[in-house]
Amino acid sequence: MAVLTLESLFEIYAQEGQQDYIGEPVSQLEHMQQAAWLARRAGASDALVLGAFFHDIGHLAAPEGAPRMDRLGVLEHERLGADLLRACGLGGEVAELVELHVQAKRYLCFARPGYADRLSEASLGTLAFQGGVMDHEEAAAFEQHPRFRDILRLRAWDEAAKVEGGEGLSLDVLRELAEDYRRDHGA
Ligand SMILES: [Fe+2]
Repeated sequence: MAVLTLESLFEIYAQEGQQDYIGEPVSQLEHMQQAAWLARRAGASDALVLGAFFHDIGHLAAPEGAPRMDRLGVLEHERLGADLLRACGLGGEVAELVELHVQAKRYLCFARPGYADRLSEASLGTLAFQGGVMDHEEAAAFEQHPRFRDILRLRAWDEAAKVEGGEGLSLDVLRELAEDYRRDHGA
């Protein structure tokens, strides 16, 4: 993938962000701004705040004709999003968190009894497309991942960021965080 500008990422939000967040009462953009705001409020690192903001960008950035999970968004949106972020100089931790955020749901369905019952209909609907509930071995391997705790935190913000009229982190703040991160870690 060619190297893209950071601005091209924010353009995607400007152009596509008003789409519904697959069956939830907020737009895609509101959802991701809310997730970033929750991360910031929790005192998370800048990389984690950015991971929360960009976690679903793959849903918005998918090329036309990309395989979909019925009406529940783009298949493998986490990988698509992570590749896009890397192409924009937001590799390393940010891209990694985005790439792994779906695994957190698969893990939690295995590790926390009753977790799957509390998932929204859309979230539950996508689970089957994403490999279903982790088995014992997958879960044990996932627990060893260096970003294990951060991914679970991101997942909690993701789930909480579906509130109509909820507070979101401003795009100006996010742009600044992304620029700083890219300068310090990116290409
Ligand atoms: Fe999400």
